[in-house]
Amino acid sequence: MSFKVALNFEDGVTRVIECNDGETVLDAAYRHQVKLPMDCSDGVCGTCKGSCKQGTYDLGDEYIDEALTDDEAADGLILTCQMLPQSDVVVSIPAASSLCASGPQSITSTITSVNALSDTTIELNVALSEPLDFLPGQYINLGLPNSDETRAYSFSSCPGSKEASFLIRNVPNGLMSTYLSKNANAGDVLPVTGPLGSFYLRAVERPVLMLAGGTGLAPILSMLASLVQNPTSQPVYLLYGVTNVDDLVKLEALQEYADALDNFSYATVVVNPDSAHEKLGFVTDHMESVPFALADADAYLCGPPPMVDAVRQYFKDAGTNPYSFHYEKFNPSQPKEEAA
Ligand code: FES
Repeated sequence: MSFKVALNFEDGVTRVIECNDGETVLDAAYRHQVKLPMDCSDGVCGTCKGSCKQGTYDLGDEYIDEALTDDEAADGLILTCQMLPQSDVVVSIPAASSLCASGPQSITSTITSVNALSDTTIELNVALSEPLDFLPGQYINLGLPNSDETRAYSFSSCPGSKEASFLIRNVPNGLMSTYLSKNANAGDVLPVTGPLGSFYLRAVERPVLMLAGGTGLAPILSMLASLVQNPTSQPVYLLYGVTNVDDLVKLEALQEYADALDNFSYATVVVNPDSAHEKLGFVTDHMESVPFALADADAYLCGPPPMVDAVRQYFKDAGTNPYSFHYEKFNPSQPKEEAA
């Protein structure tokens, strides 16, 4: 038996490795040519300390209190030289990936199809040169043919497959938008670097509120796909907002997730006041439709900066913060900005 260990480095790079039953994370990483910080490898020095907030594991029993105190262990800190995963786990490593001889993976993707889902959204489907493990919600940097330019896009597909998909905002005169809408052909090869980012679905231990704006739906779709593989008994609710009703995309996929997941429901919101859509305004105008208490929920938001700011202000004005709040802002042509 083996488990997947997602090593999250402090520069946002994630590397997923296989760890055998009874193998320490440090040994598994070394086997994969990832050199995690370490000194003694005997549970004495504390150099290999990281944290694990997702998954189950045995801390090991060979370490001394100076290396890891009981309070630290209770807070989710671990020693990678001692930790024995007992399920798939996510381990945060307080070091840059480059210091661990492990940068982001660089592979290639081949375009299988490009679909204009609306005037504002393009769906890109690719075949990866090898399956890429990532945490649902993470993104990659995607290059263009014959160019050094890259753009960051979140997966809308499930981790671990050779088939991957993305939702691309159709930006007038945007580099990637122009290429995809005018020049791209099936068979074109695009470089991929990643996975990256700290915006990903944590272990579902309480209700989950998902908020998506425009193509910010992409990482939410990936999270929902992973929930189909790992169902939860917790309620999951999505508010998906767009400017005009024609901007709503992937509604069939959302309904399929609602059919497949017992506890998932969603609502769509349209800003344009001239629309006949049932829910008008911003997602913050429809928080009363959330079927659980905000304070009990983990919230995930992906959308443009004004939406992120508006939701944060909503929480402030309401005097209620979610149990945890993870968000990702996106701007065309700019790096993603994340917080948790
Ligand atoms: Fe020294 Fe783990 S390397 S405690």
